[in-house]
Amino acid sequence: MPGATTPSSYASTTPTKVSAAVLVLGVADGSVRGLDSAKTVRTAVDDAARAIEFTGKAGSTARIPAPKGVTAESILLVGLGDIDAASAGDDAAAANEVLRRAAGAALRALSGASSIAVALPVDSPAAVEAVTVGAALGAYRFTTYRSGDDDRVPGPVTVLGPKGKTYAAAHEAGTIIAAATNAARDLVNTPPLDLYPESFAQLVKDQAKSRKVKVTVLGEKELAAGGYGGLIGVGQGSTRGPRLVKVEYSPKKARRHISFVGKGITFDSGGLSLKPAASMEDMKSDMAGAAAVVEAVFAIADLGLPVRATAWLPLAENMPGSSAQRPSDVLTMRSGKTVEVTNTDAEGRLVLADALTDAGAENPDLLIDVATLTGAQIVALGNRTSGVMGTPAARTTVAERAAVAGEDVWPMPIPEELLSGFDSTAADLKNSGPRPGGMLAAAAFLQEFVADDAEWAHIDIAGPSFNTGSAFGYTPAAATGAAVRTLVEIARDAD
Ligand code: BES
Ligand code: MN
Ligand code: ZN
Repeated sequence: MPGATTPSSYASTTPTKVSAAVLVLGVADGSVRGLDSAKTVRTAVDDAARAIEFTGKAGSTARIPAPKGVTAESILLVGLGDIDAASAGDDAAAANEVLRRAAGAALRALSGASSIAVALPVDSPAAVEAVTVGAALGAYRFTTYRSGDDDRVPGPVTVLGPKGKTYAAAHEAGTIIAAATNAARDLVNTPPLDLYPESFAQLVKDQAKSRKVKVTVLGEKELAAGGYGGLIGVGQGSTRGPRLVKVEYSPKKARRHISFVGKGITFDSGGLSLKPAASMEDMKSDMAGAAAVVEAVFAIADLGLPVRATAWLPLAENMPGSSAQRPSDVLTMRSGKTVEVTNTDAEGRLVLADALTDAGAENPDLLIDVATLTGAQIVALGNRTSGVMGTPAARTTVAERAAVAGEDVWPMPIPEELLSGFDSTAADLKNSGPRPGGMLAAAAFLQEFVADDAEWAHIDIAGPSFNTGSAFGYTPAAATGAAVRTLVEIARDAD
């Protein structure tokens, strides 16, 4: 199932002496960086950059022949943009994101290159991790469904940097985090013909085999017996029934427990409140939250972090089959609350509510749900910035860790007056709420299924999870793997 991946290793070889088909070098403000001890080569590269007017704009790349004194066959120059400003402002997170994007842009430009050495200016383990992550994310190609096109995948990457265990460990961590992000991309890119609740659950089991995690899958009978009205209601219009998947990583040394819930709609047609064709096109990506939370827990396990981490994946296909739920049906949710379904296209909150009930029952120290929940997220924050809502402490944690991870996540409120917009004439709540403010309203609905004393955050990744435009930095077209890095960063900080 997963596409071909590019192996990555770490070395402290001098950049000019490394054997590789392509040596990647960074340029800022018209001068090459990270070649301090090789003055002649540095001058030759600077001259070449000037000759082709390559100044080092972020995202730009240019291929040049290797000058004398360089073992590699050719050089790929990549722009480091305003890395100097970030470094001068002591903004390590911003500087690391410049490196991540530069490494990503470089690897995107190197389809088919046989071997690549990346020599960007790295002076800390976090910078080495950033370059490693950026390179591995930029090397991602979704080749599973292409015939004879595997040569687009770049060859093995060697990340160059200082000697020492902490640097090698940073490369190792970066490799794990990028692999998890790429695995989430694979899940999201997989067509819904092949990725549906049962097959998704099976893939989770397969991927869990090599890891110290426990997987539990609830099937349709168990969901009915357990009163998971939201998950069943959303899934009942499809011939391919819903599942609830739980993945647990519980190392002995753990003191804190973080729980993640991810929206897993393997295809969102809207149900009987059918979406127009144009809005349905990318709805294979409506399980990006589930993909993010499960791959994040796998990465947390692979990193051996001393924190208990649980992923909950409510999986359903939202289809308008003849057994589909109808607008005006009333569901009795897992929590016991009743919900009148006024719009079957507001399905994400229904499946999340049931999973949040179970996740919350374990009283985790931190509860975070991730969901492609509303078109309103895109209206409010655009395609690249996720919204985070919830209790103030959890919301701040998410926003801060996202910045360290290099993801754009912006804190948003849950205005209290929005809840009354869900008043129903037939049940405790209805599922489609007030507009404008649809992203915030959806959070107000979810909050009804979260205990008052829980530290909870809701991340709406509707736009950022799927890039409908062209590739940039380390972000390809289509699935992006949004939120994986943020969740891992939260777990790193949680012990
Ligand atoms: N999956 C969609 C939200 C979405 C839209 C994700 C565009 C990614 C891109 C969600 O299930 C949905 O349909 N939401 C509705 C809610 C409304 C009916 C209350 C929306 O946002 O229009
Ligand atoms: Mn929908
Ligand atoms: Zn949806």
